[in-house]
Amino acid sequence: MADKENILITGAGSGIGRAAALRMARGMHVIAADLNADSAAETVSMIEADGGSARAIPVDVSDKASVTSMKGRIEKDVGSVDKAFFAAGIYIRGIVCDISEDHWDRMMNIHVKGTFLCCQAVLPDMVAANKGVIVNMSSDFAVMAVPAAAAYMAAKSAIYSLTKSIALEFAPHNIRINALGPGPIDTPILQSGRSPQEYEDARLMLADKLPVGRLGQPEEVSAVLDFLLSDRSAYMTGQIVHPNGGQLMW
Ligand SMILES: NC(=O)c1ccc[n+]([C@@H]2O[C@H](COP(=O)([O-])OP(=O)(O)OC[C@H]3O[C@@H](n4cnc5c(N)ncnc54)[C@H](O)[C@@H]3O)[C@@H](O)[C@H]2O)c1
Repeated sequence: MADKENILITGAGSGIGRAAALRMARGMHVIAADLNADSAAETVSMIEADGGSARAIPVDVSDKASVTSMKGRIEKDVGSVDKAFFAAGIYIRGIVCDISEDHWDRMMNIHVKGTFLCCQAVLPDMVAANKGVIVNMSSDFAVMAVPAAAAYMAAKSAIYSLTKSIALEFAPHNIRINALGPGPIDTPILQSGRSPQEYEDARLMLADKLPVGRLGQPEEVSAVLDFLLSDRSAYMTGQIVHPNGGQLMW
């Protein structure tokens, strides 16, 4: 889109990624990328119904060929990527001795390799433009400990480290990269692997433990994302920012 900046959002078919896509579409052309092509297309329909412009692209962020193909389609359809939010992710609970090799590999491949491949895909455009902003999706769990989440925590810590490393490397190119580290946000990911009753119990337990007494909403994360993507955060790079209801306080 010649008249608007292009923002690439992965995980745009659900939860935080979808809320981000809807918010960012108020000023930018959204490229809604997701493993689930139907849900990405649904996000695009919601944006268009609201008067915005968007296109859906299916991608498996853990697969280099798929990320390369996504980038190729973006180049052909809209040109370059100006801003990016990499939110694709999964959550699988498991205590250390029960974590299978497949569980570990999926966690690392989708979160860490996926974030790396997506950053690698968009950075050359940004270097050429001598500007750009990326926000990666980490978690409170990058810097705090909870039971039964070793692989997820290791992956989210790695995303935070990756964010700092890329921020340092690309600051001379006028490219800023920060990470979001949300606390519990009420999205489908919290329901995965839980029965409806287990989910309700977990929701109440989490709300009880949080200082603000409730789970966050995806729109509350995209409000912070909006700030990180804008010039209002021009002096911030390599940081992790926590919309977390006070779950973690520094
Ligand atoms: N909800 C929370 O409490 C919470 C807290 C901290 C961090 N996060 C992180 O926020 C991100 C978004 O989570 P959410 O809560 O919106 O969950 P969600 O399940 O609603 O959305 C995740 C999206 O990622 C997509 N996805 C999964 N694997 C993919 C792949 N290989 N390639 C492309 N897309 C893929 C899914 O199809 C889905 O649309 C995740 O990285 C998650 O780890 C969530």
